[in-house]
Amino acid sequence: MGRRIVMLGAPGAGKGTQAVRIAGRLAAPHISTGDIFRAHLKNGTAIGRQVQPYLDAGQLVPDELTCAIVADRLQADDCRGGYVLDGFPRSVPQAEMLTKLLRDHGDDLDMAIDIAVPDEEIVGRLAARRFCPKCGKIFNLKFSPSGNGKKCDAPGCDGTLERRSDDEEETIRERLRVYHETTEPIIGYYESQGILRTVPAAKASADDVFAKVEELLRTAGAA
Ligand code: AP5
Ligand code: MG
Repeated sequence: MGRRIVMLGAPGAGKGTQAVRIAGRLAAPHISTGDIFRAHLKNGTAIGRQVQPYLDAGQLVPDELTCAIVADRLQADDCRGGYVLDGFPRSVPQAEMLTKLLRDHGDDLDMAIDIAVPDEEIVGRLAARRFCPKCGKIFNLKFSPSGNGKKCDAPGCDGTLERRSDDEEETIRERLRVYHETTEPIIGYYESQGILRTVPAAKASADDVFAKVEELLRTAGAA
């Protein structure tokens, strides 16, 4: 099978954590729209200024801008052999745009992996999330702390860990509300296409979740 994979799941479900591992396994790029927006914010670009109010409020960036950025990214050479999309699509119009973009090139998505975690578990997880602004590695104070205290423990990296500005409880709750209202319907969209695979991930460690994901990839002949 091809290797065009979409990660679905609520904020904090572990999409990024799993996407990095899948991308490593498949030697395919990990494309996170959230990471792309945060890079624009950090670099003070015009797009960064445009998206900041949405990220701060836990709201979705308008489909038109998001879709244009993704369409552009998917044209890059490194996407030819497949990719792991994380955080896109996030609305039915975005999912329809992706289907159309792929079909225009005679392609299809291969798998949509839904990491299913209940809301109660998510709030505690996100309050304890930290990330390295230098290399992007994701940590959790409770579940996967850095082996280097407040610094990143990735080889050759010594970034000082930070908390994401949208990981305040009020913003987390708004992100969850937006998820259930606007993003969750795309689970049905991919189910009807026959490519949805659900990974129950409540109270499961990141390693246990990845073991289930690997099984899916093997079964599909992707890895
Ligand atoms: P984005 O960056 O995509 O955020 P999100 O969907 O809210 O998801 P997160 O990144 O918070 O969580 P995750 O599922 O990746 O979990 P993680 O692996 O980090 O988007 C941010 C914003 O950008 C949006 O709010 C929106 O404004 C905008 N945006 C992005 N894409 C958009 C789009 N397509 N359209 C419009 N707007 C868009 O894990 C979370 C924590 O849990 C970590 O600390 C991790 O270490 C820990 N963890 C992971 N797995 C486990 C486990 N199994 N057990 C215990 N802890 C775990
Ligand atoms: Mg993420």
